[in-house]
Amino acid sequence: MRHATTAVLSLAFLFAVGACTEQAAKPTPADPLATPLGLANAKLVENADNALSLAKFELGKQLFFDPRLSGTGTMACAACHLPEKAFTDGNAMSKKDDGSMNTRNSPTMHNVGYLDRLYWDGRAKSLEGNVLAAWKAQIGGKPEEASKRLAVVKWYVGAFQAAFGAAPSEDTIVKALASFLRGLRSGDSAFDRWQAGDEKAVSDAAKQGYALFAGKAGCIVCHTPPLFTNKLFHNVGIGMKAEKPDVGAAGEKAFNDPAKTGQFKTPTLRDVAKTGPYFHDGSVAALRDAVKLMSSGGIDNPNKDPLLLDRGLSDAEIDQVVAFLETLSGNVAWTPPTVPK
Ligand code: HEC
Ligand code: HEC
Repeated sequence: MRHATTAVLSLAFLFAVGACTEQAAKPTPADPLATPLGLANAKLVENADNALSLAKFELGKQLFFDPRLSGTGTMACAACHLPEKAFTDGNAMSKKDDGSMNTRNSPTMHNVGYLDRLYWDGRAKSLEGNVLAAWKAQIGGKPEEASKRLAVVKWYVGAFQAAFGAAPSEDTIVKALASFLRGLRSGDSAFDRWQAGDEKAVSDAAKQGYALFAGKAGCIVCHTPPLFTNKLFHNVGIGMKAEKPDVGAAGEKAFNDPAKTGQFKTPTLRDVAKTGPYFHDGSVAALRDAVKLMSSGGIDNPNKDPLLLDRGLSDAEIDQVVAFLETLSGNVAWTPPTVPK
């Protein structure tokens, strides 16, 4: 009898512990600004003039989905940065609000708050600067006009007051959008849960893939955890055979340095399974093909980075690297907001 009671008690205890662990592994939707699992050692690039707050984050989230910000009144930031594709758009290149084409692929918005140089070529030195540039260039935003449009929407008047104690303006709109992006962080992936001790979070193939990524395949020097980018610029040869190649970081508005010809920012590989097509020109559709290209030494050109070598991976090894990359999809689960009337 006594034994039975002990057994029941320890069973109950086990269940309680199990329940606790399960709870701890889930994201806490109550605090969208909490640092997700896996990113504790990454340092957010904060702006002393625009301290992050929940009110700014929520307001910026609305604005990101609101076509009122655009010149034509029809295109929101989210047109090219869709949440279900980790805030990319699935196109090689996309049309802007004024009808002209982009010359580069739309990158993810996840974890951009950790970057000190933004855009593929690094020409933006702050998130606020990038947001203002994107607002004008991508969606033809006219700050004064847009501020007036927002100032007649009751919800926005209250939200801007709550976030900034001020009305909608170029300054407060940019700060709110930047706050949303700074708070938009992707972690808590199967990979992160594995690293935190859950051996069952990823497959054996993915574990072997990570060993290759960090070893034989030589990926980790540039795609460095926890963000899977070293935030530096490299020439891997993409687009260099074009008649007029995109010079990337060498450009006048970027580093204005010919030594950086064809260099682009190492993209994060978090959520990479959702962000195709790949590379700055969107030239590779499938993740496996992108991995194959990178592990076989990129594309030859006079400025290619010496770190890129043919690593001689077998087909099975490439599959393992892909299996690992698929474990980097984060746990950012939320539905786009409805634009206030
Ligand atoms: C028509 C498509 C399109 C729209 C709409 C758009 N973007 Fe982008 N976005 C891009 C492209 C393309 C790039 C890369 C450009 C480059 O690197 O030269 C980019 C890059 C960015 C980056 C840099 C990310 C990084 O990793 O460096 C940020 C931040 C950004 N956009 C924010 C916004 C915001 C905020 C809006 C709305 C005001 C917006 N975008 C609207 C296509 C778009
Ligand atoms: C020398 C630094 C470097 C090394 C080493 C490296 N990468 Fe990259 N990787 C980059 C850069 C830079 C880009 C973007 C190039 C461009 O678009 O022009 C990139 C792009 C990618 C992309 C496309 C991501 C996207 O969002 O478009 C994938 C996938 C990728 N690398 C995987 C790997 C794998 C797997 C390895 C190891 C076999 C590897 N890389 C090794 C620097 C590197």
